[in-house]
Amino acid sequence: MPFIEVSGVSKSFPIKGGTRHVLQNVSLSVEQGEFVAIVGSMGSGKSTLLSLLAGLTTPDAGTIRIGGEPLKGIRRDAAFVFQNYSLLPWLTALENVRLAVGAAFPELSRDQQRSRAQQTLEGVGLGNALARRPGQLSGGMRQRVAIARALATEPQVMFLGEPLGALDALTRESLQGELARLCGEGDGRVTTVMITNSVDEAILLSDRIVPILPGPPATLGTPIEVALPRPRSAALLAHDDEAARVRTHVIATLTAALSGTSRTRKAAAAMRQHEAESSERKATEMTIPAAEEAR
Ligand SMILES: Nc1ncnc2c1ncn2[C@@H]1O[C@H](COP(=O)(O)OP(=O)(O)O)[C@@H](O)[C@H]1O
Ligand SMILES: [Mg+2]
Repeated sequence: MPFIEVSGVSKSFPIKGGTRHVLQNVSLSVEQGEFVAIVGSMGSGKSTLLSLLAGLTTPDAGTIRIGGEPLKGIRRDAAFVFQNYSLLPWLTALENVRLAVGAAFPELSRDQQRSRAQQTLEGVGLGNALARRPGQLSGGMRQRVAIARALATEPQVMFLGEPLGALDALTRESLQGELARLCGEGDGRVTTVMITNSVDEAILLSDRIVPILPGPPATLGTPIEVALPRPRSAALLAHDDEAARVRTHVIATLTAALSGTSRTRKAAAAMRQHEAESSERKATEMTIPAAEEAR
C-alpha cells in the first residue's frame, strides 16, 4: 500500500465574481521512503497541492490518505520546509532546532534535546553558527537551519515547499547538493514530497518527477522515473545521458501543456532528436577508450 495516496482531488477558491478552479481530479501515490518531486511553472497550483498534502487545507472533492488513514489536519510525524518558513528570530539556531526536537521528543531531557539539535546542525554544516540568531545568518544558512529542524524530528514524512526558491543561484546550487546528500543517506529514507519550479533540482533529488500541467484547472501528468544511482551531484548529472533524457522529457511535457496541442508534436520531435543525438554521443564515447587501449 502506498504511504501517501491522493485520489481524485479537486480544489477551488472563491474569487470576486466566481470561482477559481485550481486543481482538478488529481491522483498521486507515493511509496514509503520515496522522494517525489512535483514540478511546474509559477501559478500552476503546486503550493495549493502541497497545502492539501500537509493537511493545512482540505480538498473540495476526492480523498487523501497518509499511512493508511484519511488525512485529518497536520500530522504530528510530518516535517515541513517552506520557502519562507520563518525561524523564531529571538532564538539562536540551536534553540530553534531544540524547540522542534522538544516538541517531537518531549521525553528527552533538555540536554539531550540540545545535543540532538547540535548534531543535526553540525550535519548541515552549521556547527560554527549554533549561537547565532536568524538575523545574523545568511538566507542560505537560515534554510539550512530550517532543514536541520525538519530532519532533527525524525519525521515519517517531509513536505518541501520550494525550499531553495528564495536563494540566489549559487547558494541554491550548493544547498541542492547538500539536500541530495542528506536525503540520500541511510537506508530508512524519509517519504518526501517536494514542489519546485526547477527541473534540475527535481532530477538531483527525486525518485520520480510528476509534472503539474497548468490549467486552470491544473492536473498531474504521468510520473517520470529518475533511474539514477545516489548520491547524485549536479556536476555528474550535467554530463549524464539518463539525466539529459529525463530533463528533456519533463521539459517537453511541461512545454507541450503550456503551449497547447499544436506544439505537442514539435516537443515530441525535439525529444526524439535529442535521444537520437545522445545515443550517438554514447556510441562515440564507447569507442574512444577502446581505441586508446589498442595503442
Ligand atoms: N486562497 C486562494 N484564493 C484564491 N486563489 C488562490 C488561492 N490560493 C491560490 N490561488 C490561485 O491558485 C493558482 C495556483 O496557485 P499556487 O498553488 O500558489 O501556484 P504555484 O505554487 O504553482 O505557484 C493561482 O492562480 C493562485 O492565484
Ligand atoms: Mg507556490
